[in-house]
Amino acid sequence: MFEIGIIEKISIIGGQNKDGMGENVRELDVFAGSSLAVVGPTGSGKSELLSDIEQMAHRDTPSGRVVSVCSGAQSGGDGDGDGLVAQLSQKMSFIMDGTVDRFLSLHAESRNRSGRDIVNDTIEMANSLCGEPIKPGDSLQVLSGGQSRALMIADIALISNAPVVLIDEIENAGINKLQALSVISSSNKPVVIATHDPLLILMADRRLVMKNGGMDRVLVSTDYEKDILDEVRRIDLYMDKVRYCLRLGIALQGDAEVI
Ligand SMILES: Nc1ncnc2c1ncn2[C@@H]1O[C@H](COP(=O)(O)OP(=O)(O)OP(=O)(O)O)[C@@H](O)[C@H]1O
Ligand SMILES: [Mg+2]
Repeated sequence: MFEIGIIEKISIIGGQNKDGMGENVRELDVFAGSSLAVVGPTGSGKSELLSDIEQMAHRDTPSGRVVSVCSGAQSGGDGDGDGLVAQLSQKMSFIMDGTVDRFLSLHAESRNRSGRDIVNDTIEMANSLCGEPIKPGDSLQVLSGGQSRALMIADIALISNAPVVLIDEIENAGINKLQALSVISSSNKPVVIATHDPLLILMADRRLVMKNGGMDRVLVSTDYEKDILDEVRRIDLYMDKVRYCLRLGIALQGDAEVI
């Protein structure tokens, strides 16, 4: 088992794409405190890569990749990485039948972080990310998709304390994606985020382009992309306001007050 310590970086050694050809990117490191956006068309292998990292793949997945962590932690045996990675996956459902309060209390207890405060803080943080508030007595099974993801993000930030964070398409969760990203990035962890969202892609330190199941290229923002980031942010905010109004049944008006 791994003992959780401060992770310096995760290293990915390339394997093969869907056709069995070697990946163009042979080796990739993601350092603590840095973010990597994983981009590419639907089916290009973004979730597969996240899953490889989560499993600490060792040539035992379809891609044949090897993923390792470099940390101050000791490792022994052939640890399965339990507790090492917090993954917010694309498809999410709770298999536990209980209340939000009970789930968070049990999880906090299992991480030696028990106490009323941490449960309340986690619910409060989750509610700052989603529209309809989550109540402590709500059954996990009745939470909406967005509420579940908001709860998991707050859990990742405050309870799970995992040193590596993986996020799959946070933009489709119906929650405040920028606030969620800032909550998660505030800790000094390597963050890997699969996304189709232009703003999230441009905000990441680097982006990994996936193609046909393989890691194709690693890019950093060009000077032009850095220049237009504020403009993209402005357009994104505009779209957020339009979405907010339409979702609440507020008619869009010609005057600038609403938008
Ligand atoms: N290197 C690979 N070798 C073999 N199979 C792969 C490889 N990469 C991805 N796959 C398989 O291809 C399918 C699509 O991959 P994946 O779900 O990762 O795509 P995605 O980029 O996340 O798509 P989306 O944007 O729709 O979420 C999956 O069944 C996955 O297991
Ligand atoms: Mg996917």
